[in-house]
Amino acid sequence: MENTHLKAEWLKKYAIVPQTLERIKEVKSVATAFNTNVDAVLKISGKKIAELAQKLGLSLKELEDIHHTKLEKPQDVLKGLFKCFKSGIAEEWLTEDKTIYDWMVNNLGYDRLQMGGQGGIVANALAVTGAKKVYAHTNSLPALQAKQFLALENLLSFDENGQEQAAYKINREKDIPLIHWILEFDKGDSTTIDGQTFTCPKSNRFIATYDPLNLRLIMDKAFTKKMSSEEIEYVVLSGYHALTENNNGVKLTEDSLPLIHQWKQNGDLIHLEIASTQDIAVRKTIIFKIAPHVDSVGINEREAIDILEVTGHEELAKKCNDDTHSINMFKALLNIKKTLKTPRIQLHMFGLYLTLQDKDFKISPDSNLRGMMLAATVAAGKAGTGNINEAKNLLWAQGQEVSDVGINELKDLGKYLGKPQLAETGFAEVEGYDLIGLPTILVDKPKTLVGMGDTISSISLIGAR
Ligand code: GLC
Repeated sequence: MENTHLKAEWLKKYAIVPQTLERIKEVKSVATAFNTNVDAVLKISGKKIAELAQKLGLSLKELEDIHHTKLEKPQDVLKGLFKCFKSGIAEEWLTEDKTIYDWMVNNLGYDRLQMGGQGGIVANALAVTGAKKVYAHTNSLPALQAKQFLALENLLSFDENGQEQAAYKINREKDIPLIHWILEFDKGDSTTIDGQTFTCPKSNRFIATYDPLNLRLIMDKAFTKKMSSEEIEYVVLSGYHALTENNNGVKLTEDSLPLIHQWKQNGDLIHLEIASTQDIAVRKTIIFKIAPHVDSVGINEREAIDILEVTGHEELAKKCNDDTHSINMFKALLNIKKTLKTPRIQLHMFGLYLTLQDKDFKISPDSNLRGMMLAATVAAGKAGTGNINEAKNLLWAQGQEVSDVGINELKDLGKYLGKPQLAETGFAEVEGYDLIGLPTILVDKPKTLVGMGDTISSISLIGAR
């Protein structure tokens, strides 16, 4: 079938999106855990990078001499930033040293503060879509953090006395703000170091994180108490990715398992966002110890490759890396499904979302498709307007056609599976599993990308009604 015809078919299907959004209002309760922080976002120019390198006395050779991805000196911030700028990639490096944080305050500054951390970002997104109660876990909630929560009465957290309150009104005065620097750079910008010029190939960001609490998975007792005492319809879990083996990360990850079991016993549906986990030991713990116990997992193509790399499938990982096409990525998804044994796994990639789930899973393929269409619309709204802080932005992209990229990817996959109807219906059965595939709406010049994956995964799930 021609793409124009397929696009018209999908436009008809997407027409249900406003109704799907309405139905989120039926969701009684959602919780997000664990990582909430403040993001200090700064657009940094190539010129400024060169100035900072000079100020810190860094030669090109020194800038490129990287032995670790931990920020031990201000120079390391420049090394990470330069590496990401010249290759157009995204990385996050961590520090435990407050003097690095102070150096960033004094030498970098920021353009704006916004909500950071998967937990915080998802909490804002779900509250604006209208779920009745959204509980956000915060291990630090001074006024500066509280201000990053949307001023909505259905968005809740806990004050210093453990009392439930609208998150934006809380001020736990003794808490320290946890600020992550998001250094964004633009495609086409260039920097000249030691007479050599480097041009950035893709807009992206480098994150420099000082966060003594999230790096230790510190939990708020009032939150965990609430969570163990009653059923919460959905829990969106993340925040393990910043842990490291040296920082007791493996044990901290394992220690959260009793909580997960308790929540499951209460009847909660638990979704885990894997996120980009650099530490291999922690990544393996998430994959083998946590993921098998949750109901649903969310990954992007990079995270899928990361999983293959540590589960003995290096060859497939390499294939996916060399050609990040829907066929290879589906093979990855199927492989990961078998390793993790999680009932539902959703992969989102450029132009396409794929959900693979057990036949008897409690969310039907039809519901999944509805949730995914809502997520694709909201994600395009976020990219097109810059934020989804207001309900009106959620449906900004409603009525736009899906992209050719997505249609072609889905067509190719359907052909490969011997199920060409996939490109038209979005459904196929593969090896006894249900596959749901969705071509998405793409925005030409996205105004923002940070937190996009978290938004897609959580809205796909909570919108699957
Ligand atoms: C990581 C970063 C956080 C950022 C988030 C976006 O959790 O630490 O600063 O907001 O990713 O997904």
